[in-house]
Amino acid sequence: MRKKLGLIASIAVVAFSSCNTHSSEDYSWIKKGIDVASHQLMLTAVEIDGQQQLPRSIWTGYDMNFLCEQLERDSLTFKDSLRVRPLSNKIGQRRLCGIYDWTSGFFPGSLWYTYELSGNEALKEQAIKYTNLLNPVRSYTGTHDLGFMINCSYGNALRLAPNDTINAVMIETADNLCGRFDNSINAIRSWDFGTWNFPVIIDNMMNLDLLFTVGKMTNNPKYMDVSVRHADKTIDHHFRPDYTCWHVVSYNNDGTVERKQTHQGKNDDSSWARGQAWAVYGYVSCFRETGNQKYLDFAVNIADMIMARVQTEDGIPLWDYDAPAGDETPRDASAASVTASALIEMSTMVKDGDKYLAYAEKLLKSLSSDAYLAQPGENQGYILMHSTGSLPNGSEIDTPLNYADYYYMEALKRYMDLKGLTYNQLS
Ligand code: GLY
Repeated sequence: MRKKLGLIASIAVVAFSSCNTHSSEDYSWIKKGIDVASHQLMLTAVEIDGQQQLPRSIWTGYDMNFLCEQLERDSLTFKDSLRVRPLSNKIGQRRLCGIYDWTSGFFPGSLWYTYELSGNEALKEQAIKYTNLLNPVRSYTGTHDLGFMINCSYGNALRLAPNDTINAVMIETADNLCGRFDNSINAIRSWDFGTWNFPVIIDNMMNLDLLFTVGKMTNNPKYMDVSVRHADKTIDHHFRPDYTCWHVVSYNNDGTVERKQTHQGKNDDSSWARGQAWAVYGYVSCFRETGNQKYLDFAVNIADMIMARVQTEDGIPLWDYDAPAGDETPRDASAASVTASALIEMSTMVKDGDKYLAYAEKLLKSLSSDAYLAQPGENQGYILMHSTGSLPNGSEIDTPLNYADYYYMEALKRYMDLKGLTYNQLS
């Protein structure tokens, strides 16, 4: 797959550079991304209308030998019976999810960003509709993913169409997220399933933005206190000396470490691509909200590690940095879009920001090329192709993911803001 992606990307870059003669800088790749997003999101919103569900990905199956090769494990220790295989008639179909799924906020969030970037009012109507669908999540307490679910949907609604209901939903949700914080352990509990005593996953750093927003909304210091204590605990235990991170750290009740593991990466000692992306994004947010240099230094070290470790030509990482490199090894476009978004923001915070902006721009240009950006009407209505959800669990392998789309749109928005660009200036 890798060679094919590289070839398509080069053809796309040549095609784009020759068609914009109006400005010294060619931004037609951004316009193409926004136009594809508008088309795909609108198409999806209409097609799923009335189902009370949201688009998450495309159903994939898996081949056991392929999984064993990727994980470098044999099929005796890695049993097929542990995985759920979708019915064959589902494979290739759009995978929808309910409102309590961890990814439910991303589709409304992508609608908000694409409305903001394009000015298309029809997208705003859909954004409002799919955001409102998530209203019952305000009383849900069963996961740490409340930040993803409500900040990406209602959080963007708050920016673009504020009203008192939005505030109430966000405050109630933030309180439920704080309810998962343990005062002795100093962390927010991530999951309620599994055999861990108190699991905390690196992804949990992404939920702090909800708490930061609600802290400012209410002037109540408890949200900042919880966030800072969680971020500090994570710095202390999730990272290796080279700034790569474990996926799952579980704590004993006294706050000591019970276990360090992976759930979605290749093995416990590997560097799962999306985990590294969640990490850098999380600490950029922490610096933005606290001004504490410690968080920025940490984010810079993680970013430097990512830039050194990702060896693909187009910058889109393999699903795990330690996966066997090969043409068939799945990429994770979602990790690239999260990283791009984080690095654009981080580039404004550091003296040598240009190198981080250049890296983010490279990722965005790759994602906006025909190798990753869908053709309008294809890809079951998703914007980007080639992400990986959870390879060890046989789930969502080399497929679109709604969060790859969300952070791609967020990164385009951040990039345009930084460059002072509006949609009308793009072609
Ligand atoms: N938060 C789950 C994931 O990144 O797949």
